[in-house]
Amino acid sequence: MVKICCIGAGYVGGPTMAVIALKCPSVEVVVVDISVSRITAWNSEQLPIYEPGLDEVVKQCRGKNLFFSVDVEKHVSEADIIFVSVNTPTKTQGLGAGKAADLTYWESAARMIADVSKSDKIVVEKSTVPVKTAEAIEKILTHNSKGIKFQILSNPEFLAEGTAIEDLFSPDRVLIGGRETPGGQKAIKALKAVYANWVPEERIICTNLWSAELSKLAANAFLAQRISSVNAMSALCEATGADVSQVAHAVGKDTRIGAKFLNASVGFGGSCFQKDILNLVYICECNGLPEVANYWKQVIKVNDYQKNRFVNRIVSSMFNTVSGKKIAVLGFAFKKDTGDTRETPAIDVCKGLIDDKAKLSIYDPQVTEEQIQRDLSLNKFDWDHPAHLQPLSPASKKDITVVWDAYEATKNAHAICILTEWDEFKNLDFQKIYNNMQKPAFLFDGRNVVNPQKLRDIGFVVYSIGKPL
Ligand code: NAD
Ligand code: UGA
Repeated sequence: MVKICCIGAGYVGGPTMAVIALKCPSVEVVVVDISVSRITAWNSEQLPIYEPGLDEVVKQCRGKNLFFSVDVEKHVSEADIIFVSVNTPTKTQGLGAGKAADLTYWESAARMIADVSKSDKIVVEKSTVPVKTAEAIEKILTHNSKGIKFQILSNPEFLAEGTAIEDLFSPDRVLIGGRETPGGQKAIKALKAVYANWVPEERIICTNLWSAELSKLAANAFLAQRISSVNAMSALCEATGADVSQVAHAVGKDTRIGAKFLNASVGFGGSCFQKDILNLVYICECNGLPEVANYWKQVIKVNDYQKNRFVNRIVSSMFNTVSGKKIAVLGFAFKKDTGDTRETPAIDVCKGLIDDKAKLSIYDPQVTEEQIQRDLSLNKFDWDHPAHLQPLSPASKKDITVVWDAYEATKNAHAICILTEWDEFKNLDFQKIYNNMQKPAFLFDGRNVVNPQKLRDIGFVVYSIGKPL
């Protein structure tokens, strides 16, 4: 029986390993983590992450060939294949702060693997890492290896949150990069055999290590670039009377461009797009390619511009002040169908409104009050560095309430901001909401989920992204 151990039981490690266990009954999969609370949750009825379809997959294999454990060293030493899926956040201090990936967690995992291993192993980079990381990891592993052979593979993950199980069941591609040596090729074959249990062979792409590492950063950069492109167009649409949905539809009909990922929004969020592009920018700068670095930097700049533009539009249309006004924020997660708030645009929008002294009433079906208060108290990039947590000032705290119902959030509000495209927001009783709001009742739709005309007919003053007033 092949034994797989995955270090890191997060948004990637947990779902990915659960699907491997489901699809490969002859493989034993153990997911390990230093976080006791995370492992306890994986072993409970209340999994640590919300992801449609995940509960069913975990229930089918947990205790059979899928295990979650804090006994990191034991399971690493027993495994044939070790996936490393630890977090790789943006550095907040020192060389490359604000851009480079912080590989502290990765390095400590690699040192531990080197220390506890007693047999040959395949070590798989699942985390997103800077191109050439495998070279550094190889050095760490072989330095202490006592004659043990390690083969490093790069097998980046392309799942998106909210659709992780679908993406893992039927991936567009699985990418495996390895050394172009007989040992490297043998390791690629071994990992390919795992995926071949359910992924058609033509979807498994094998490359050299550096192509695989860089392809992951490139894929995220291309995806984010599409969003910044359509968001840049949304500003021009607002200025000219064009409708960004119509423009995106017309542009996306060209099969060379394609229709997906052209939804204008308040800005992209999530733990990876910004982090990975900043990392790409840093790598370009380190390789003496400032023009390439600047090109990709613009994707982030447009995203920041879009979030600022949204806040400015709210304040300017509400007679240039939101001071003391109740604003209902519907949605806080970075996208629908997840409770994840990492780098959600809602943080920047809420902070912008708080700076203008608004009183916020926030509702998200999957995000807790504790999480929201925590997110609004952190500085940029600090969310994955818990030591930097500073409690919100009492003044700011009293200006934020978190409620469990959209009707409660909007009661007596001057304005509504939709910041996540949860399906339930499309079907709210907006007449009832309107009746209970201050007038004029403003609605700022940061996700283009409502029909502006229908709401205007009720009496709302509606601002949608990239649509005529
Ligand atoms: P996460 O923060 O949810 O999970 C990482 C886990 O690793 C944490 O539970 C942490 O406790 C654990 N960990 C850290 N150091 C450890 C160590 N030395 N030993 C044992 N456990 C350790 O992160 P994530 O969202 O799962 O992302 C992981 C990686 O995958 C990142 O590099 C990310 O860029 C990449 N990625 C994420 C996504 C996504 O949708 N979240 C998609 C593709 C790729
Ligand atoms: C993204 C990629 O889609 C995954 O392929 C990748 O594996 C992952 O990053 C990663 O490396 O972490 P994720 O961030 O989970 O996945 O979710 P997306 O669906 O890509 O959405 C990211 C952000 O862009 C969200 O805030 C979303 O609302 C926004 N978005 C997306 C738009 O504003 N418009 C769109 O058309 C699409």
